[in-house]
Amino acid sequence: PVLVVDFGAQYAQLIARRVREANVYSEVVPHTTAVEEIAAKNPLAVVLSGGPSSVYEDGAPRLDPKLFDLDVPVFGICYGFQAMAQALGGTVGHTGAREYGRTDLQVSGGVLHDGLPATQPVWMSHGDGVTAAPEGFEVTATSAGAPVAAFEDRARRLAGVQYHPEVLHSPYGQQVLSRFLHDIAGIPGSWTAANIAESLIEQVRAQVGDGRAICGLSGGVDSAVAAALVQRAIGDRLTCVFVDHGLMREGERQQVEKDFVAATGARLVTVDASETFLRELSGVTDPETKRKIIGREFIRSFEGAVAEVLGEGAEKGETVEFLVQGTLYPDVVESGGGSGTANIKSHHNVGGLPEDLQFSLVEPLRLLFKDEVRAVGRQLGLPEEIVGRQPFPGPGLGIRIIGEVTRERLEILRRADSIAREELTSAGLDGQIWQCPVVLLADVRSVGVQGDGRTYGHPIVLRPVSSEDAMTADWTRLPYETLERISTRITNEVAEVNRVVLDVTSKPPGTIEWE
Ligand code: XMP
Repeated sequence: PVLVVDFGAQYAQLIARRVREANVYSEVVPHTTAVEEIAAKNPLAVVLSGGPSSVYEDGAPRLDPKLFDLDVPVFGICYGFQAMAQALGGTVGHTGAREYGRTDLQVSGGVLHDGLPATQPVWMSHGDGVTAAPEGFEVTATSAGAPVAAFEDRARRLAGVQYHPEVLHSPYGQQVLSRFLHDIAGIPGSWTAANIAESLIEQVRAQVGDGRAICGLSGGVDSAVAAALVQRAIGDRLTCVFVDHGLMREGERQQVEKDFVAATGARLVTVDASETFLRELSGVTDPETKRKIIGREFIRSFEGAVAEVLGEGAEKGETVEFLVQGTLYPDVVESGGGSGTANIKSHHNVGGLPEDLQFSLVEPLRLLFKDEVRAVGRQLGLPEEIVGRQPFPGPGLGIRIIGEVTRERLEILRRADSIAREELTSAGLDGQIWQCPVVLLADVRSVGVQGDGRTYGHPIVLRPVSSEDAMTADWTRLPYETLERISTRITNEVAEVNRVVLDVTSKPPGTIEWE
């Protein structure tokens, strides 16, 4: 892999994605990873990320100069660029000129920016700067606040830039990163949907052997693609299980039963567990507790389905050993599974698993981002209705009712949600949004007036967001006419709701879901 060393930047995941967009597999490792450990992973190259600190600060994350003895290509970004300069004998100083935001870069030569505009906008965010490049390096670009804004040493396959090539505000950044990977480091672009699919299928075969597996389908893209991959790997030793936990949206169950089976021909067993889920959730208001309960009950339902999966002809002692889940890289990172990351929330299929789990997990998508999952799904021939579907969380409406989950509240939310979805679709806006959670503030009431009478109802929150990978998101500027239609219809058609409000928070600081 190409290893992205995370110096504490929120950008490290993004850098890994960009490397993969250049068709090169990439993983993030914390900056505390020892050089020996890095070497043990046989990296094709190392990318040093940006970071919040100055190289001169006490406790600033250090870069071990031994990294450069490995004879591995290295690319430094922002803080990583400065740390690299310092480690190799260049100088880093307080240039005085803080640069933050969009700046013009003046290119003077080199391979990184070859053929790109001589003056180009880039995104900068730094106080310190490299004032002298290390020996052997050619300075290939400057900016107003950075006398050394890019350098490269092609013979040693080392390069770096002061700006952030990974953000969209640096329009040529992706090309610069590609130049480094392909032209300086000499790495071929072989990380493609076809290769990913093939290698994942092989890995699943190796893991499952001649065992049996079940796969929980949620109606979402991830579990559908995971199931299709595993089906390719082990054929009808896979059975898909759809747990109807009663927290689904309108029409969701029918969609899974129809679309997925039609697309794959996979065996499907449906378990109706809504009574149990609701009973276990009764009286619970804490979001993490809800998530853990839902995660646990999913597993209990899968366990309960095993007998049915094996069928009557099953021999004594025969069992289902593996459980397939559509866990993605961001789920792993946000559930605290990536090393050194905080637990933001327990994604139901990562942090919500019970300790006495009887299955071995098969998680073929564990290292992939959503767009890669979609590409693999298309590669496997899944139809656009499945692959292009907006994300919907496994815990369903259970984490969109703020307060206790009850049957009545679910019904209210289901009706409001279906109106919002209908209007967004008929306005042709589905392609512009990543997803639009509709949230019921079940414990909040406000006074309203309707038909000359006072009402005392609940607010519904609309949370339309735009995102590339759900790690960060912005609120979507929906047209007022659409918002108006949604608001009018919900307040007219759902008697318990007398107010519709819009969530205008990005992520961070908010998360996409409210719980
Ligand atoms: P947050 O709320 O963490 O959501 O910003 C990021 C993305 O993940 C989805 N999500 C989940 N998906 N199980 C899932 O399968 C979960 O427990 C879960 N929690 C959040 C959310 O809808 C968004 O797309």
